[in-house]
This record gives sequence, structure tokens and C-alpha cells, in this order.
Amino acid sequence: MAKGTETELEHLPDSELKSLLLPDLLPRHIAIIMDGNGRWAAQRGLPRMAGHTEGIKSVRDMINLCRELGIKALTIYAFSQENWKRPAAEINALMMLLESYLQMELEALIEKETRFRAIGRVSTLPESALAWVRKVERETAHFDRLNLTVALSYGGRSEIVDAVRRLAEDARNGTITPDQIDEDMLEGYLSTHGLPDPDLLIRTSGETRISNFLLWQLAYTEMYFTPTLWPDFRRHDALLALHDYQRRERRFGQTCDQLSDHPDEKVGKRSA
Ligand code: FPP
Repeated sequence: MAKGTETELEHLPDSELKSLLLPDLLPRHIAIIMDGNGRWAAQRGLPRMAGHTEGIKSVRDMINLCRELGIKALTIYAFSQENWKRPAAEINALMMLLESYLQMELEALIEKETRFRAIGRVSTLPESALAWVRKVERETAHFDRLNLTVALSYGGRSEIVDAVRRLAEDARNGTITPDQIDEDMLEGYLSTHGLPDPDLLIRTSGETRISNFLLWQLAYTEMYFTPTLWPDFRRHDALLALHDYQRRERRFGQTCDQLSDHPDEKVGKRSA
């Protein structure tokens, strides 16, 4: 189990925070609800988009840190289905930001051997943004060092509905029978198929909700809520979140006595 309280650790330099992490107890998959961009901008008297643009820097910090630590999967909630209810001007600007992010970042993703994938009802995105999503997905499809999944026009309930619909179609056409359907099979129909479930969910800005994100996949995930607004959530904050995660005991329904102290066995149980 990792040592040190958050207050003891927060004054340490990033290099030390990083070296104090226990490699065997790192999450394999981190999911993030990037919240607080609007408030960050409002606090500075700036338009909301300034917060979203600054939030891109935090996304870069997370990608770099995951890659350095060998964390294999990072899933970020960039645009929910509910976000379509925002004013048209903000939606358009967010779509343009997504497009310019993909244009700017493609080379860096390739250099960092990062696979980019989008999940959600992406066909509802504007044509030019969707074309960039598909292009970056194609050009990074052969990488496996880090799997960056961006949730766009995403809703956890719709994802489950879409999966169930396809299961029902396969049952109707005889590919499967209803009695074969179990958790593993349903998981195979989700958009995150092939990724381990997130070990750690981070939500910034002080909100303590899941907001329809990865509802199935978060069943056993450790939650980390921080008041820090997303544009301020940088490498140092992410390292503190990882230390907090390493102090937790993950039991997956078992008792403390049943869990071995051997970190490898604990990691193994994460996929159970
Ligand atoms: C929530 O903050 C944030 C969003 C709806 C958008 C998140 C988008 C980014 C960080 C940039 C785009 C990312 C990529 C990968 C292109 P909010 O606007 O709800 O903040 P508030 O609650 O303070 O108003």
C-alpha cells in the first residue's frame, strides 16, 4: 500500500511524486470527466471557450503522463449527448476546437504511438469534424502503447441500448441464442470492447456525479473527485490522484482476508 497523506505529498516536486508511485499498482485504465472549463473562464472574465481551449493543455498532460507511466488506456468525456442542449455558438466552437485539436495533434499521437478512438453517436457530429475523427482513428489504428478514447456525443445509457439492440438482432438472425447472453457477451457489444474497465475515474470541478459516463464499465471503478477545475488539473494534480488511488484497497466484493498482499494478484483481480 502506498505511503503518505495527500497533504504530505502535495508539496513534493513532480519528479519525486512520480518516482514514489508503485509501478505494480498503477491503474491500467483511467477515465476522466473533464469538468469546470466554463467556471475557469468565468473566474477570469473570459469567454467559456477560453476554458475549453485551456483544457486541451490538461488533456496533453494526461496523455504524456499515461504514456510515461505505461498506463495503457485513457478515456476522456469531451462531449455528452446532453451537451447538444448547449447554445449553438458553444457547440459550434467546441466542434471546431475538436477538429483543430485533431489536426494539431495527429503527428504527436503518431510519435507517441497512441491509438485514438472515438466512442458515442459520432455520426451526429458535423461532417468535417467526423472526417477528422475517422482520419485520426485510421492513421493511429496500429498503435497500442496508449489507447486514447474520446467520448463524443456519448451517453452511457444509449451505449447500452445500442449494444442490446445489436444483441437482439444477432439473436433474431440466429448468430446467438438468448441463453448464451451473459455479461462477457454484452461487454463485447459495447464501444469500449477490448479495453479493460477503468480502474480510476477522475472528475474535476467539485461535482460528484457520473453524468451518464461509462455506466456499465464503471461498476468497480475507484472514484476520485477533486474541486480543481479541469484547465487547472495538470501533471501534479494527476500524480496526486494516482497516489490517492494507490492508497485504496480494492476488494471487488471480497473480504480483506481473501486478498493477497501481492500486488500482481491485486492487479489480476481488477479484470475479474
Ligand atoms: C465541461 O466543462 C467540459 C466540456 C463539456 C468540454 C470538454 C472539452 C475539452 C476539455 C476540450 C476538448 C477536448 C478534446 C479532446 C478536443 P463545462 O463547460 O461544463 O464547465 P462548467 O461546468 O464550469 O460550465
